[in-house]
Amino acid sequence: MKKIAIINGPNLNLLGIRQPEVYGSEGFESYFQNLQEDFSEYELSYFQSNVEGQIIDYLHQIGFSFDGIVLNAGAYTHTSIAIADAISAIKTPVVEVHISNVHAREEFRHHSYLAANCKGVIAGFGLDSYKLALLSF
Ligand code: DQA
Repeated sequence: MKKIAIINGPNLNLLGIRQPEVYGSEGFESYFQNLQEDFSEYELSYFQSNVEGQIIDYLHQIGFSFDGIVLNAGAYTHTSIAIADAISAIKTPVVEVHISNVHAREEFRHHSYLAANCKGVIAGFGLDSYKLALLSF
């Protein structure tokens, strides 16, 4: 059974509450339960942290044994060379996801430090961005 991890970065613990007009009104925990049912052929794990170093530690921890990582690094996407380096350092392929279409938003969201080190990028499909990313593994 393929082992796939979903990692959410800062402020994504507030999904369902935070700016529902941008990110929707469903919390991630309930969506994750649906994902587990829809992708029962995968062993799915979920990790969320608001702390950059904890995301890096988790990438190191799973990045040599898991089959895939779906990463929504939140605003760290646009700032973190350290997370970009961690993605390069590990063996497990990473798909970058965003709930919103970052390219239709403020200019500072158009650049990703992570994308070049990822297998691919999916943005703008609401929570279904995670589903689409899982289909790539
Ligand atoms: C986000 C987009 C980022 O620009 C933002 O900082 C987030 C969420 C998204 O999923 O659309 O926190 O990654």
